This record gives sequence, structure tokens and C-alpha cells, in this order.
Amino acid sequence: MAVIHKLAITQFRNLNHQYIEPGKHLNLFIADNAHGKTNLIEAIYYLGHNRSFKTKSLRELIELGQQKFQLDAQVDDYRIKLEKSKQKTIINIDQIRLKNSGELSKVLPIQIITPDKGFIVNGTPKNKRSYLDWGVFHVKHRFLSDVKKYNKTLKNINILLLQQKDQQLDDWFLEIARLSTLITQARQDYLTQLKQTNSTELIKDLSLLFSSVESFNYEFKSGWPKEVDALNVDSIYQYLLKSKQFLFKSKCLNYGPHKANLKFYLKQQEEYLLSRGEQKTLSMVFWLTQVSMMVKHNIYPIVLIDDISSELDASKIQTILFFLKRLKVQIFMTDITSNLLSIDSKNCRIFEINEGVISQQ
Ligand SMILES: Nc1ncnc2c1ncn2[C@@H]1O[C@H](COP(=O)(O)OP(=O)(O)OP(=O)(O)O)[C@@H](O)[C@H]1O
Ligand SMILES: [Mg+2]
Repeated sequence: MAVIHKLAITQFRNLNHQYIEPGKHLNLFIADNAHGKTNLIEAIYYLGHNRSFKTKSLRELIELGQQKFQLDAQVDDYRIKLEKSKQKTIINIDQIRLKNSGELSKVLPIQIITPDKGFIVNGTPKNKRSYLDWGVFHVKHRFLSDVKKYNKTLKNINILLLQQKDQQLDDWFLEIARLSTLITQARQDYLTQLKQTNSTELIKDLSLLFSSVESFNYEFKSGWPKEVDALNVDSIYQYLLKSKQFLFKSKCLNYGPHKANLKFYLKQQEEYLLSRGEQKTLSMVFWLTQVSMMVKHNIYPIVLIDDISSELDASKIQTILFFLKRLKVQIFMTDITSNLLSIDSKNCRIFEINEGVISQQ
């Protein structure tokens, strides 16, 4: 069960030198605008992913005038350290240096709910793939290495297409066809399981969040044209061979799992026709279903919810918190002072943030 027991943040944005001991259940961070709520959420997210959901620029993340930032946490029995400067990145778990961040995500699985990352319903295909693949990775760890190999293969193919070189292209086509079927199969299996989770008792609680939750549906698009059987290596390979001249003209491969998509529907209506409120609430339903499915797999992700009351009214927030409480996951939630929730204080630890200084109430 992933629980952050201790967290130290050093020189991350406006959080200069902060240390907190979060509670096992709900942790609420209250502050006015621009005091550091999103920065805190971003720091925790960073620790679990070795990247931000807001920026690619390291310079933005390091406190102004400083050269590096550092995040230290005790997560369950593990001690995690992440230090980052322009020159180097150090990620240690129990003082053993990690080569990649996959291990980090296993120790610190995180589900994030924030307008900054964008909603999944009517979101960009990239954002949809990011949420989908996060789930797939946690139930099937080798998915990450397949995706990495796929991306390398894609890069090689695109270089050959750009240089108009036919040599070895067929070998790479076969390799990308093979990896592509593994990725598509893993994504489809995950979504099948997610739909099963959708019909369990637990999810019925979410009907309080959205009354027609049963008519919410989603469809997976593999990223290949309709004529291709995305689960069949030969079908993909033959398609690529047949399209070679076209690909040389377009100079890159614009089909495949890197173009996969999810299409959301409510009562057969397409996602872009839904109101913003519907898109927002259905996104929550999708994310919470993902969390619930992980718990079924005995993985307890930490849930980060930023800026909650700007997005949802009090009764919806209560429904979400009640749902997450039953799942027994640790929650970090931020809110602005004026919207302070009436929360069961026994299960909740409340912190205030004042110009980057976090103090427990
Ligand atoms: N690299 C940095 N160094 C120092 N301060 C920074 C850095 N990056 C951002 N800040 C500052 O952090 C402050 C807090 O930002 P944050 O986004 O966390 O606020 P917030 O509490 O989430 O506000 P809101 O309620 O408006 O969402 C901002 O005033 C911003 O200028
Ligand atoms: Mg914010």
C-alpha cells in the first residue's frame, strides 16, 4: 500500500525547504491563490514520475536563484531521493541508484486529478494515452519496456523515411508490427478489465456523482487504419510494405500505437457535444474507476487532487472523498481558504500553505 509517511521538499519552485508528515488517509492543503498548492502537488507527482505534468523545463522547477531541487520521501518502508540539476539526475531508493524511473512509479504509483493536466473526456489524444498507459503499466510492468522499444523502432523508421533509405526498412517494419501488437493487446486487455470494474457495486456509488453513469462508454482506437488488424503482426507488416511509397512521401509513420485514441460517449453522444460539466464529471468517473481497478490488483495509488472546489461542488467532492475513503488510498487535496470543506477531522490532516511555507494545523 503506497503511503507517503514523510516528505521533504528542497528548492522546488517556491517551496524552499519544507518537511511534512502526511496522514494515511486524507491530507488537505489550504491556501489562497499563488501560495504553492499546485507546486506541492507537482512535487509529489514529480517524485513518482521523474517528470512534471506542467512543464518540460527543469529551470522552471528549480527555485529561482538556485541550481538544483531535491525531493525526499519515506513511502511505506522505502526511502526515496530524487535530486535534479542541469548537470545530473540522481534517483535513489534505499540508497541504491536507479537506472530508470519505472521502479520509482512502482514504489510510488500516483493518480492525478487536476485541471492543469486537462480532462480526459474531450481531452487531447496524448493526454488520453497518458492516463490509459499509466493504468496499463501498473497492471503489466513489462508494458513500459515494450513502449520504449516501440519508440526506438519508430525513431529508426522515421530516420530511414526522412533519408529516403529502403535498406533495413522491412526489418524495422516487422519489429514495429510485433511491438505494436503487444502494446495494443495490453491496452485492450486493460480496458476490458476497466469496463468490468465499471459494473461492480463499488462504482455504483459514483452514480451520485453522475446520475447517468451507466450510459457512459468508451471505445478504443488502436492508431492503425480500419483495414489493419491491430492484433495481427502480419496484417500490420503487410500494410506497412504496401504503404511504403506513401510513407516515403510523408517522411514519417503517422499510424500505430503512438496515435492510439480513446473515444468517449454518453448515451451515444460524442464527447465534444457534452457540456463542460459533463466532461469534467465523466473524467472523474474514469479516473476513479482506474484507481478502483488498481486497488483490485492490490496496488494502492496515491491520489492527488488539485484545486478541487474550483472544479466541483461540495456534494460531488464529498462523493469522491467517500469513494476514495472506502478504497483506503492516501489522498493529497488542495483547496482555497474560502471553500474550506466540512470534513471529518479524525481521518483528515489539514495543512496551511503560506507563501511556500507549509504548516500542519
Ligand atoms: N521556480 C520558481 N521559483 C520560485 N517561485 C516560483 C517558481 N515557480 C513558480 N513560483 C511561484 O510559486 C507561486 C505559487 O504557485 P502555485 O501554482 O503553486 O500557486 P497555487 O497556490 O496553486 O495558486 P492557485 O490557487 O492560483 O492555483 C507563484 O507565485 C509562482 O510565482
Ligand atoms: Mg494552483
